[in-house]
Amino acid sequence: MGPKTHPASRIGASMTPERWRQVDAVVRGALALPPDARAAFITDACQRDVDLRREVEELLAVPTGDFLMRPAAAAFAEESDVAIRARVSAALADRYLVERELGRGATATVYLAQDVRHHRHVAVKVLHSELAAALGTERFLKEIELTANLQHPHVLPLFDSGEVEGFLYYVMPYVEGESLRERLERENQLPINEAVRHTFSIASALDYAHRQNVIHRDIKPENVMMYEGEAMVMDFGIAKTVLDTGEQSITLSGALFGTPAYVSPEQAAGAGQVDGRADQYSLAVVLYEMLAGTPPFVAPTARALIARHMTEPPPSVLVVRPDLPSDTQRLLEHMLAKTRAGRLSDAATLIHAIDDPQRLPPVGASPRRVVVRRIALAGAIAIILAGVIMLLALLRNQRG
Ligand SMILES: Nc1ncnc2c1ncn2[C@@H]1O[C@H](COP(=O)(O)OP(=O)(O)O)[C@@H](O)[C@H]1O
Ligand SMILES: [Mg+2]
Repeated sequence: MGPKTHPASRIGASMTPERWRQVDAVVRGALALPPDARAAFITDACQRDVDLRREVEELLAVPTGDFLMRPAAAAFAEESDVAIRARVSAALADRYLVERELGRGATATVYLAQDVRHHRHVAVKVLHSELAAALGTERFLKEIELTANLQHPHVLPLFDSGEVEGFLYYVMPYVEGESLRERLERENQLPINEAVRHTFSIASALDYAHRQNVIHRDIKPENVMMYEGEAMVMDFGIAKTVLDTGEQSITLSGALFGTPAYVSPEQAAGAGQVDGRADQYSLAVVLYEMLAGTPPFVAPTARALIARHMTEPPPSVLVVRPDLPSDTQRLLEHMLAKTRAGRLSDAATLIHAIDDPQRLPPVGASPRRVVVRRIALAGAIAIILAGVIMLLALLRNQRG
């Protein structure tokens, strides 16, 4: 037998969502083990993928809060997916018959199941056990209650939630369509009017939720389902619960629960309170990606990616979408501002701006800058006038 090869052993890999899932899985696996067993686990998990190993080691080297360092229910590293699914199936059996796995993210596994009482398909989302242990049932159910009250045409509703045999789960409609991520994987770039329409829908869902004091904190194409051609936002509120668990290490844990490609600079920095404008930034990244086919920033590591969000101006989307109306370009620039103050003040304003981007001020034209520009202009005129007067005086002297 030859040496084992790893499918992802490539140099200079980019931090794509799939890549992130891979990194995340190894980090979680390592954290689930006692510290002295981690090195061997990482070596085995990363095989010859040096980038993966570097990324994992970098993330593990950051001093983390209580949650991440907790030698979590070693279940994660030991129990196989099949065994977990068998336990989930058995625990839920009197209400939901689990058929198959639909997908898996950083926080949970989603199963397709038959709702026994209503004879319909549903999606059951079961939190990973180490997260469930860190969260606690009470906290989870309290947060879920907030999102259960969100009823909006572009928010995927919540059917049910609960705890059985240590599993924390919630139940939502099964969306037979695809996620925006899958749509983007198929088509790369979307037509401009469609991209703007989905942005409007998502913004209206955000405006509604923000008015009930619910901030999403994890807006990304994976959390938008396409249903009958319409965007439906899911996983409201769950990110908050998850982020709050790792308070002291929000940079790391915040990034861990989602893809760093969409995180706002202030959320990445762990700046205490984030508000609705963090969702606005993430939505801007999604809009950019729908138009350009890639998010504005890509980098080989999560930390490098976050650094670019914090410091680099986004490349102009016009390079890849020269047909983009300048109004939409301006909208995008406002939404992608590094500071909250530079963005639109709230989601309601955002909706109006998407509706009529002509009303947007030019980017960077804050009142102070306009004043500075006026002073500069007055100065220039004064200098020119002085020059003309001197010249005239000189000419008169020469004649005289
Ligand atoms: N209600 C649903 N109907 C159909 N598929 C779903 C539903 N909810 C989630 N999924 C699928 O399961 C995947 C995993 O979801 P999730 O655990 O929220 O992780 P993430 O949002 O990070 O991808 C999603 O990307 C999506 O493809
Ligand atoms: Mg999700």
